[in-house]
Amino acid sequence: MPPDEPRNVDPSPAATAETVTAEQFRQTMALLPAAVNIVTSDGPGGRAGLTASAVCSVTDAPPTLLVCVNALRSTGDAFLANKALCVNTIGPEHEDLARLFGGRTPPEERFAAGDWRTGRSGAPVLTGALASFDCQVDEVKTVGTHHVLFCRVLEVAALPGGQASVYFARRFHALTP
Ligand SMILES: Cc1cc2nc3c(=O)[nH]c(=O)nc-3n(C[C@H](O)[C@H](O)[C@H](O)COP(=O)(O)O)c2cc1C
Repeated sequence: MPPDEPRNVDPSPAATAETVTAEQFRQTMALLPAAVNIVTSDGPGGRAGLTASAVCSVTDAPPTLLVCVNALRSTGDAFLANKALCVNTIGPEHEDLARLFGGRTPPEERFAAGDWRTGRSGAPVLTGALASFDCQVDEVKTVGTHHVLFCRVLEVAALPGGQASVYFARRFHALTP
């Protein structure tokens, strides 16, 4: 069977780059498989964390990630005040924790459900995470509703051979190496 031809979500001529709605964008983004990360922070702005798929490598010299967080939520403020965060990339055993960090749960309940150590930046590092990137926040650019945080990586930890969790079509999927 040949692969399906690419299709517009809305095939009407109005679905052009100029007129893509937020809803069309979100529907289409749901088809981009993404790693699942619990991004944590601590410092003068308080302990905070959220689940984020909008995490991307920028460069390895200096080692830098970008993380996009909703500027309308309090967690983003804590990340900016602390200028520190840890990207904890999870596997299937932490999917319930990712659901907690992705919902409307208060910060203390989120953190009570996991096992943490403190990283060099001061951010909580998740014990047993597939990969952890402890970072200082170097730069911030705000685009629309989101802060884009450029994060210098200070320390990494990894569990080679571990399973990954991928978010695709609004569900978690386990990925085996
Ligand atoms: C799989 C998944 C991925 C998410 N990715 C992001 C993201 O990249 N950036 C973001 O700001 N929120 C993202 N969210 C939503 C936040 O996790 C959610 O709004 C969070 O609970 C906000 O916490 P707060 O209201 O305490 O600030 C994601 C949620 C899920 C379940």
